[in-house]
Amino acid sequence: MASMVTGGDTAALDSLLEKVYRDTGYDFREYKRGTVTRRLERRLRATGAKTYLDYIEFLDAHPEEYHKLADDLIIKVSGFFRSPYTFRQVARLVLPELASFKRSGGERRLKFWSTACARGEESYSIAILLAEFLGNRRQDFDISIYATDISRQALQEAQAGVYPPRDVEGLTSTVLENYFTRYDKGYGVNSNIRQMVSLSYFDLTSTIRQPFVNLDCIFCCNILIYLQSQLQERVLSMLYDSLATPGYLILGEVETPTNSLREKLECLDTKARIYKKNVRLT
Ligand SMILES: C[S@@+](CC[C@H](N)C(=O)[O-])C[C@H]1O[C@@H](n2cnc3c(N)ncnc32)[C@H](O)[C@@H]1O
Repeated sequence: MASMVTGGDTAALDSLLEKVYRDTGYDFREYKRGTVTRRLERRLRATGAKTYLDYIEFLDAHPEEYHKLADDLIIKVSGFFRSPYTFRQVARLVLPELASFKRSGGERRLKFWSTACARGEESYSIAILLAEFLGNRRQDFDISIYATDISRQALQEAQAGVYPPRDVEGLTSTVLENYFTRYDKGYGVNSNIRQMVSLSYFDLTSTIRQPFVNLDCIFCCNILIYLQSQLQERVLSMLYDSLATPGYLILGEVETPTNSLREKLECLDTKARIYKKNVRLT
């Protein structure tokens, strides 16, 4: 019965999240409390702890529990072309404008960032979208898709790039034939797609400077919803600073942009939440 485990008060929860941050580097202190407490309840129940203070003691005695805790707190649900509408609108509203801007300036470099790439589905979807859009003009561009996440396990799976059949069942047979290879274990992303994607660890809550600059397009989908509004502001401000001019920010159908972002960026699509940075504001 969920109500049996109450976890304890806010101060004890603060201490627990502080401890997790200190001992593991995972910073859930400014994640939305509702999601965090729901997920923590599961760990409390699994470990027999009645309160957050009991659970703190359990962590001290069983450090291996940190992995299970992080695994429960980090929500990794994703998918190829997870919001098909968003990807369609990126192909319609962003890519033609971006490609023609680059061509007119004689530039070859195209830089994308998938900020919470999970097991790589989003970043490989971006690469496939670009391959489809550019066709045989792909060689005209030097494409980098930086793909980062906080989950090292997810990043390892993204690096392997092989997905069970159920993960690719929404893809068309043409996409599967052109960009994947069938193995015993599942479907592997082909090297011509993988070579566009560079995977690395980056924590969006980090207060260090942005890891990439002059980006043409940033995807930040299905992650801000887990963060409290102040942290959302900080992340979005960092993403804004990372964008080139023009530059495009894709939040997808689920996120809600903050007011300050709405003031700074032009909205190209309210449903897919596609924004454009037009002029450099100081
Ligand atoms: C629900 S998934 C969304 C994945 C993908 N962007 C999508 O839209 O399908 C959330 C991802 O955010 C990652 N994540 C959570 N907190 C993070 C943080 N502070 N920095 C970077 N990634 C984070 C998780 O590991 C997970 O892979």
